[in-house]
Amino acid sequence: MADQKSDSRGDSRQSFFAKQMLLGTAKTTFQQLSGLMKNVTIYPESHPFLLALAEKLIATLEGLLVGRKEVAFYLVSGELFFETNSVPLDQSISLLVEQFVSRDVGGIVFKPELTTAELIRLAVLMSKEPEALAAEGGIMQVMGRENITHIELHRVLLVDKKTGGAIKEEQQKSAQLFMDAVAAIKDVIQSVHRDKSISMRRLNTVVQTMVDNVLENRDALMGLTSLKMYDEYTFAHSVNTSILAISLGTFLSFEKPQIAALGVAAMLHDIGKVRVPLEIINKPGKLTDEEWQAVKRHPINGALIASGIPGVTKLAMVVAFEHHQHGTSGYPHVEAHAYEHLFSNIVSLADSYEALTAARVYYSVQMPPDQAIRILVEKRGTVFHPVLVKAFVNMIGIFPIGTVLKLSSGEVGLVLHQTRDLMRPRILLLTKFDGSERVSGEEVSLLETTGGKYKRNVFGIINPYTANINIKQYLE
Ligand SMILES: [Fe+2]
Ligand SMILES: [Fe+2]
Repeated sequence: MADQKSDSRGDSRQSFFAKQMLLGTAKTTFQQLSGLMKNVTIYPESHPFLLALAEKLIATLEGLLVGRKEVAFYLVSGELFFETNSVPLDQSISLLVEQFVSRDVGGIVFKPELTTAELIRLAVLMSKEPEALAAEGGIMQVMGRENITHIELHRVLLVDKKTGGAIKEEQQKSAQLFMDAVAAIKDVIQSVHRDKSISMRRLNTVVQTMVDNVLENRDALMGLTSLKMYDEYTFAHSVNTSILAISLGTFLSFEKPQIAALGVAAMLHDIGKVRVPLEIINKPGKLTDEEWQAVKRHPINGALIASGIPGVTKLAMVVAFEHHQHGTSGYPHVEAHAYEHLFSNIVSLADSYEALTAARVYYSVQMPPDQAIRILVEKRGTVFHPVLVKAFVNMIGIFPIGTVLKLSSGEVGLVLHQTRDLMRPRILLLTKFDGSERVSGEEVSLLETTGGKYKRNVFGIINPYTANINIKQYLE
């Protein structure tokens, strides 16, 4: 973790639990919706039991609506997402997801002031046979006629029946690689912890594969750093930091062996944490000064541990030692402005960005990447290397021409030009609000406002390859 005092290990743990709780509530929403849908086929619509189920569901949704204008769930290749987090599926949710897909529903948005009557009507409609709904013009048309205004359904986005398998395969490949990386670093950390002999073979191999993957297609693996949720945050933090460092190394056109060395160093940057007593690591809330001193020793311990692992390069030791140094403003304390290795600066930046974007869940209101980027930008030249910050922003924060963006409106758009605000480019809409068209042909600016607010915000980046969008045809 980026453990400046204000962003301590305790906060990271709390953010982890807050995220778990949030996802737990998201999961409950779908379980309750599934319960309601089963029961509408048994009880008449006005039955008190159905009313009670709908009231419970509304109470759950109200919990999610705190700090949000609406609660949106999306299905992407069979996975259910709440905002950018993957919701763990159980059997009842999987069945519900299937029901959604067979009715061409790829997203559901709940709005404040939603009523029990609307929820029950939705459940009734969703339990109708897909053919019956199609004969009535589709579920969205029926909902419009029935005046259900606080629930919005969106069509399945960008799922091309011909290439669905290929999309899935590609995503599964990246997801599997991510999990392999988590397992590899877990293995190393646990071996250090238990004073067992450590082999770097597995970790080196997995980092090589990650480098190949990123060189081939940077977004797929990088997307996973924000999309996935993991039970084992400590390990996932190392993997995420490594992916970001590898991506930046690629972006800066380093040679492949250098990028791999950078990736391994990033994987091991927090290895010294194994020497921090578990009660401090697991402590919720603020650390005492003494505890904080123990945490601050992890770079020194990290360098020592790395020096004892056969096959670990000096670079990994240097990076473990320097990743919190930040010139003379961080730790361990150095007298003069010591020279820091460029790779330490890269890992430091990736580490901080990772911790910042992970911490957003703690506050249950998302900190979008651009806000995290702004924090890094504010600290350029003091904490972070200014040139690297610029490159990192270019890599993550600025959406270059040809980037496919997922928008908060549910639309998908292709970046055509930059505007005065680099975060809000001009785009070509590829899908309309309900996802009904692959190309709507409309060109809009993300600077457009309505009622003093931006009409559309960037929700994330879509990899055009996995989404089967041939961007070339729109750019020529
Ligand atoms: Fe870290
Ligand atoms: Fe650290």
